[in-house]
Amino acid sequence: MATQSTVPPKTNGRLPRVDGQLKVTGAAKYSSDYNLAGMLYAVPVCATIASGKITKLDVSKAQTMSGVKAVYHRENFGKLFRAAPPSGFNGILDEKRPPFEDVVVRYYGQYVAAVVALTFEQATAAARAVVVTYDAAPMNVSTRFAESEAVEKPTEDSKRGDPDAAFKTAAVTVDHVYATPAETHNPIELHASVADFDGQNFTLYETTQAVVNSQNVLAQMLGVPVENVRVISRFLGSGFGGKLWPWPHAMIAAQASRNLGKPVKLVVTRDMMFQNVGHRPRTQQRVRLGASADGKLVALTHDSLNHTSMLDDYSEGCSEATGYSYSVPNLRATSAIVRRNVGTPTSMRGPGAVPGLFALESAVDELAIALKMDPIKLRLLNEPAIDEDKKLPFSSRHFVECLNTGAEKFGWSRYTPTVGSMKGTGEQSGLTLGWGVAGCSWIAESCETSATVELLSNGGARVSCATQDIGTGTYTVLSNIVAEKTGLPNDRIEVVLGDTNLPPGPISGGSWATASVIPAVIDAVEKAQQKLFAIATAGPDAVFVDKEPKDLAFGEGKVRLKDSDASTAIPFEKILARASVRSATGKGKSPGSFGAPDRKFSQHSFGAQFAEVTWESETARLRVSRVVTVIDGGRILNPKPARNQIEGAVVMGIGMALFEATRYDAQSGAPINNNLADYILTTNADAPEIDVTFLDHPDLVINALGARGVGEIGRAGVAAAITNAVHHATGVRVRELPVRIEDLLEATAERVA
Ligand code: MOS
Repeated sequence: MATQSTVPPKTNGRLPRVDGQLKVTGAAKYSSDYNLAGMLYAVPVCATIASGKITKLDVSKAQTMSGVKAVYHRENFGKLFRAAPPSGFNGILDEKRPPFEDVVVRYYGQYVAAVVALTFEQATAAARAVVVTYDAAPMNVSTRFAESEAVEKPTEDSKRGDPDAAFKTAAVTVDHVYATPAETHNPIELHASVADFDGQNFTLYETTQAVVNSQNVLAQMLGVPVENVRVISRFLGSGFGGKLWPWPHAMIAAQASRNLGKPVKLVVTRDMMFQNVGHRPRTQQRVRLGASADGKLVALTHDSLNHTSMLDDYSEGCSEATGYSYSVPNLRATSAIVRRNVGTPTSMRGPGAVPGLFALESAVDELAIALKMDPIKLRLLNEPAIDEDKKLPFSSRHFVECLNTGAEKFGWSRYTPTVGSMKGTGEQSGLTLGWGVAGCSWIAESCETSATVELLSNGGARVSCATQDIGTGTYTVLSNIVAEKTGLPNDRIEVVLGDTNLPPGPISGGSWATASVIPAVIDAVEKAQQKLFAIATAGPDAVFVDKEPKDLAFGEGKVRLKDSDASTAIPFEKILARASVRSATGKGKSPGSFGAPDRKFSQHSFGAQFAEVTWESETARLRVSRVVTVIDGGRILNPKPARNQIEGAVVMGIGMALFEATRYDAQSGAPINNNLADYILTTNADAPEIDVTFLDHPDLVINALGARGVGEIGRAGVAAAITNAVHHATGVRVRELPVRIEDLLEATAERVA
């Protein structure tokens, strides 16, 4: 009876994406693909200062230009409200000020007006003709943070023992500041809104990772009842967190549609993506570790700062993994924010844990060197028995196995710790090799979910939920779950997502959409089966006449008497046909774990990242040549999209280590590398062979299938594994990302000299 002893059913294989054909044929409709009759185009006017006031906004030329229907600004846009504080995952947005609310400019690129015209080209031309005069004020986009700048006293995220005293008396210590730069989400699909107001109701085609939240926020800000807003997001070209919560362009499109009585499309351009729709803020983190001479941790402090915008308080949450990663009696993790004249930051793939683990796992490597101890051994020595922060057992933690499996796959037994001591052979001959390892983890949660499953008289099943597929395979995973629970083949299962008319579902965030939908969909299937049993036993013509629903069992798409053998089973569609009923429908629900009181377990996924770099000191040429990733993400429902997630995340981790950084111009405050030529992302040429292993230990605390979900965890630890490898190859410790050639020239000069 206890779920603990239930063995989950076998996974139903490596199902390719059920929406794959729609995508490769171009039939999948993304938000900006919607072209409605009479649709107009909106193009925002962006501020060209980062701080100050608008003193004059001259629209006289713009509004006479060809095709222009309206030029909106503070004085003629109409009322927009602010959203009330959120409840759970409803009502969240990061930039809380509605567009055009006041004359103050707080960041470069802030929307100050918007032109609506018959074509995108006309709107673009007229937006350029709007003349804005500013009274500029001093601004600050500095990437050096001082503790004294903190908006408030630091928040104590974790605390145990007396870390300062323990650090002072520790035999071996390290104490360094690590930094990660502002990073911009660059999904291929730009943010877009197509808004259609029909005189009463809004239909909004949004690029959103959370249709339900978008509906709630937009209804509040537009000042209409929530049932008057329908949000649709059928396909997403990813988002990486940037599309979790609504941004001002969505309100501009919706309000313009209401003002003009026409559908309005607004597509955020690539350069605006660097200004107006969030970014991961710069982080600056001081980590101190103290250990006994034999490598037992005695003290750990982790004090982080991140920037936020002038109005909104975004905390990156770098302490996320600090409290539970290692066994250490004395620990403190704090965080605080500092203000800069930049757009409001937001979650980016692995918020908090990813930059936090760069700092922590770099420091652990530095400690291993100080101790003259193998970095894997040091981690194994400090493996905790429980989550010492929450004082709870882990639902399932296999970090030690991740390290050991990874070491085996990577060939760690050949590791020699001396800097520059490992030389390539074969294709790598003449190159110095650097090896690095880092641990990683990510929260494993779920959120409140409803879903409907219909068993249909045509022999198919339909599952629907107002969640959305960010591109990771949510359509496929829902099909997997229904297939597993009904025994139906996937080609008889229809999945409907991305529409607030459907039962409210989870955000595509936190890597928990899969873990969230599993219990609700299972509940819905079971209720649909109960409905089917009722149909099968009702009335004089029933298939199982004179029987009761409790006498029946469902398996492989068929119904039979519990005590009879499988050969007597009747296909469910025959039962529905006989009763002339179209569908047996079940509505499922699950409460989700996020924010639930009285937790009995600490829920996380774990992993180990191993990186090899090659280093050519004569030319300062550094390449990542190999990555081995071992992930303990619970049971993997479908290894194909799961592996895809981890590979993509590792590729982003390489970008974090070596390339990605949003640079704000010191004169203007503009993000100056605001395009895909200057903002360097990892390309195929930079991405090495990535060996992904899943441990596949079901986590039955999380849900009946034991699946925790994967995605964000694949990015955690990668940057530290790479900079640890860079140190091993070159002797240069890079504590501020990304690694720049300037950092490495030091090593080159030494070697060439
Ligand atoms: Mo993720 S940063 O929660 O989309």
